[in-house]
Amino acid sequence: MLITGETDKLLMIPGPTPVMPDILDALAEPTVSHTSSYLAGIIRYCQDAIRMIAGSADASVFLFGGSGTLAQEAAVANLLAPGDRLLVVSNGVFGDRFVPIARAHGVEATPLTAEWGGSVTPDELDRALASGGFRAVTLTHVETSTGVMAPVADLARVAQRHRALVIVDAVCSLAGAPVEMDAWGLDIVLSGAQKALGVPPGLSILAASSRAMDRRRGLDSVSTYYADFLNWEPAMLDPRVYFSTHAVNLFYALKAALDVILAEGLESRFARHCALAGSFRAGAGALGFTPLTDQRFLAPTMSVAAYPDGIDDARFLIPLSEDGVVAAGCLGAARGTGARFGHMGNITHEDILRALDAMERVLKAAGLDIARGAGLAASSQ
Ligand SMILES: Cc1ncc(COP(=O)(O)O)c(C=O)c1O
Repeated sequence: MLITGETDKLLMIPGPTPVMPDILDALAEPTVSHTSSYLAGIIRYCQDAIRMIAGSADASVFLFGGSGTLAQEAAVANLLAPGDRLLVVSNGVFGDRFVPIARAHGVEATPLTAEWGGSVTPDELDRALASGGFRAVTLTHVETSTGVMAPVADLARVAQRHRALVIVDAVCSLAGAPVEMDAWGLDIVLSGAQKALGVPPGLSILAASSRAMDRRRGLDSVSTYYADFLNWEPAMLDPRVYFSTHAVNLFYALKAALDVILAEGLESRFARHCALAGSFRAGAGALGFTPLTDQRFLAPTMSVAAYPDGIDDARFLIPLSEDGVVAAGCLGAARGTGARFGHMGNITHEDILRALDAMERVLKAAGLDIARGAGLAASSQ
């Protein structure tokens, strides 16, 4: 049964993010043949735009039905053979996931884990890689459990010195923060559609460097059929070629979302994300929330904050949702101590104000002594 009012709520979870009406409308266009020239043109446009947003001149871009997790798995399965060593640099729950993913593919995964709310440093990475023999390193650009944005450019430089391929999970950053695949020397940039790109969930997105493609070509076989780059390559070079049915209508939505992003301009989009993050955090701080993320690594796309005294998940998340704003609980070590808020994609300052206003009502109803409009005033300064 549908829950009345659910679709009117403001999604302030760190993905999926609110989808603009034009992008939703695009989904409702008639479905065309998955091998038509019409769809091929749309897919090519999407590949070019993703390449640009990922900061690459010539990466191979793979777009197929799936999610961020499938993109993580595809990256591992295409670059590592059973028995290869993978260093999993993890700043939280989503970084950790590369360990079971790698093990499911027979890859020897070694975790290098940061303190909760912080990031692994280049020196720590250097020391870990010095033990030798790592084929690749995984990095999580924005870790959605902790709100940490890792210094990917610096970490990637260290990995290159050790001749390790660099796989970057940009699920919670792509199109919301700069990603410079070529300049930073990244081999895979992977993402999903539902976060800063502002598309409904359902697409896996990967950009692969020529080194990554050479590595895949050097492997006789890989432990995935659906996500094998070489199976998708002909259909990505010419999307009229069939490998598996393209997610036709999701490509309409992706194209509409990329139109929005390119019209806004990447620099302006990144600046807007920083401004909205600052505005949200100032407001949340005035309401008594404290960041659970090391100040040096605060991501522009989302925030993780501890509840004010006397507040817990039940007293915050449920009434907030009843007030029309949906936030997420914390994960991992921080579970139950605070909330996670997304402020990425096509979210506006009005959305931030709506969220802070609702948060204030919920906290006051829970008995907190907050000056009226404190969150809104702080956020607007
Ligand atoms: C950083 C990060 N990586 C991977 C994933 C997994 O993506 P999905 O849920 O689309 O499979 C998520 C999901 O939130 C994420 O935030």
